[in-house]
Amino acid sequence: MAQLWGGRFEKETDKLVYDFNASIGFDKRMYKQDIEGSLAHVKMLGKCKILTEEEMNNIISGLNGILTDIEAGKLEITSEYEDIHSFVEAILTERIGDDGKKLHTGRSRNDQVATDTKLYTRYEIEEIKIRIKHLLEVLVNIISANMETYMPGFTHLQKAQPVTLSHHMSAYYEMFYRDYMRLSSILERMDTCPLGSGALAGTTYPLDRQYSAELLGFKGPTLNSMDGVSDRDYIIEVLSAISTIMIHLSRFSEEIILWNSNEYRFVTIDDGYSTGSSIMPQKKNPDIAELVRGKSGRVIGDNIGFLVTMKGLPLAYNKDMQEDKEGVFDAIDTVKSCLTLFAGMMDTITFNKSIMEESAKAGYTNATDVADYLVLKGIPFRDAHSIVGKLVLICDKEKISLDQLPLDEYKSLCDAFDEDIYEAISMKTIVDKRKTIGGPSKDAMKQVLEIYEKQLKDLK
Ligand code: ARG
Repeated sequence: MAQLWGGRFEKETDKLVYDFNASIGFDKRMYKQDIEGSLAHVKMLGKCKILTEEEMNNIISGLNGILTDIEAGKLEITSEYEDIHSFVEAILTERIGDDGKKLHTGRSRNDQVATDTKLYTRYEIEEIKIRIKHLLEVLVNIISANMETYMPGFTHLQKAQPVTLSHHMSAYYEMFYRDYMRLSSILERMDTCPLGSGALAGTTYPLDRQYSAELLGFKGPTLNSMDGVSDRDYIIEVLSAISTIMIHLSRFSEEIILWNSNEYRFVTIDDGYSTGSSIMPQKKNPDIAELVRGKSGRVIGDNIGFLVTMKGLPLAYNKDMQEDKEGVFDAIDTVKSCLTLFAGMMDTITFNKSIMEESAKAGYTNATDVADYLVLKGIPFRDAHSIVGKLVLICDKEKISLDQLPLDEYKSLCDAFDEDIYEAISMKTIVDKRKTIGGPSKDAMKQVLEIYEKQLKDLK
């Protein structure tokens, strides 16, 4: 039990209390950000002549040595310290002597932890963005290769109207593109540095907060010290953005699980991304998609959990806020692995194109188009709707699709039908007619693909 405080205590901390209070078990992963933050702080103290140049240089080389040794595995972060901040300061003092004790001048662990956590989260947001970008690229490949892969589009999980695989995948592209942009906008809002807020009321030292903020890559300092130490909005925003990504991944996973089932057979998941059963030899299970779908639950839990932690907290720092880390770390780790695994699965999946097209035909997805055909021949839509309903009933009884129904059967219900009905209701024709931007036709999808390719090139 090594701690940074104790002067006013007459008794040792109870061991259970110490362990309950400690966060080093999980905040040790922020060692790099803690050292980066301390380096910026000490450089600022030197610049403002609060520390001498010699003291500053001593501390800088001590901190750099600690970073190098941790990364080389020569210095282990042990749980005898309360948190990563205490650890770094204690080791620094052990190594360079009394100068080490001056590092904390004009700083509190409250502004320190707020800065470290912001730096860590900012770094990880970029890591998540890289993985989303990769998934977008995988989707663009599928989109560009499948503009004429016809498949049923569903509403109520009932076959509705035909679309193409490109069109279906482009719906997911849209979701993940929004996710990417959402993360970028969070980064803009969190671009202020809490360092220099002190415990809550700033500090009496003449700090140059703009300077330390810039050293850490922030636009500037936070403008209220109480908010600076207790703002965790960006964590809530990130948790919410990650939850949205997980919701998108879970919807996508659900479709892949359905499509991979024996009933659909729209896709075959690559062997490398499937698992078997210990008892049923025939099984090839979509575990990756199922796990991604399942993990969305715990990430949403992380999100809700931290919202409730923050609710009702008075200003300024409260120890409750230490609870921000495990949830956000878990959400970050989870979404990163889910994005990577999901993109890998989609990159290697096989689409069973003829089964998809057959399924679109078998589900009467062209029934609306038969009605539209009659409307073009002068039949009022309501009558056409009823005629086609009867045709579907016949097909249902004969177990055939609308394009397999003989012309005399068509004619028996309405004289306006002609040989050109087959051409008019082919998958290609009816998809091609949906040319408005946003629709499934090849023309529309080509325009959209061009936009996507430009978006991917311009992603920041
Ligand atoms: N481990 C603490 C946290 O994560 C660091 C800040 C502690 N500040 C304090 N006054 N006890 O929030």
